[in-house]
Amino acid sequence: MSNSGEAELLHTFKGIPFTTRSSPELLKSLDTFDAREDDVLLVSYPKSGTHWLAGVITKLYNTQVTITPPIEFGDISQLEKLNELSSKRIIPTHLDYNMLPPNFKNKKCKMIYISRNPKDTAVSMFHYYRDNPNLPTVDTWTAFFDLFLKGNVVCGSWFDHFLSWEEHEDEKNILFLFYEDMKKDLPKVVKEITLFLSLNVSDKDIQDICEKSSFSEMKNDTEKENSDPTHTVCALTSNRKLIFRKGAVGDWKNYFTPKQNIRFQELFNEKMKLSKM
Ligand code: A3P
Repeated sequence: MSNSGEAELLHTFKGIPFTTRSSPELLKSLDTFDAREDDVLLVSYPKSGTHWLAGVITKLYNTQVTITPPIEFGDISQLEKLNELSSKRIIPTHLDYNMLPPNFKNKKCKMIYISRNPKDTAVSMFHYYRDNPNLPTVDTWTAFFDLFLKGNVVCGSWFDHFLSWEEHEDEKNILFLFYEDMKKDLPKVVKEITLFLSLNVSDKDIQDICEKSSFSEMKNDTEKENSDPTHTVCALTSNRKLIFRKGAVGDWKNYFTPKQNIRFQELFNEKMKLSKM
């Protein structure tokens, strides 16, 4: 971080850095949040494709659903607003499994966890840090790379986040998805989502939804303000224009030096030794 004053943009709760857009009072109250059985959670570490997934999912329903702001976003009054929503709630969050309000777990709400190659996630997050005034300034990729490896970035360590959720991968109410699979065969992943959510959507409609959810369509919609430019599913910004950057797999190769790649791989092997990934 180049400016110590900017440290004030972040605060730490239960050892995890959050932006000041998530108030400590709200974070403390999450434990008592009242989940509903039909809530659907969209869970991700930042920059893993959350908006893409949210764009797809909202198009799958033909009943009234509301994509709420992320559950960890705002001050304490936010939770009251979520309680007042009458329609079915699709709730995004970047919380790790341990911080998730216990009610979602007890009520076995459906949860979709989307993950992405952490190297591409790191590069995407580097750009987000640079463009997003709610996040501290980082001067160089090298500086950001070190912060990312230490987990000294907003939402903490990618590894800890992923592992906290992967531990619950086999639970029937949790669906694990990968960004790279969506890039490779979106209709196949969307079909999987419809089965998980028990939605009856024809193959033709799935095809249409996939076309409307391509990177270029979603970016265009945002630029033409066909979708609300001041609404995101990320607790780190409300500016939708910051979300659609490149939408590619493997961009990390343009940033990682061979040495960084080795350091990353060593940490990955160590942290992920018990992971199925
Ligand atoms: P890049 O910065 O690599 O371009 P999130 O929604 O979790 O913040 O993730 C943002 C990342 O998802 C960005 O990655 C963004 O470009 C990418 N993304 C958003 N919509 C997409 C789409 N329709 N297809 C592919 N990637 C998409």
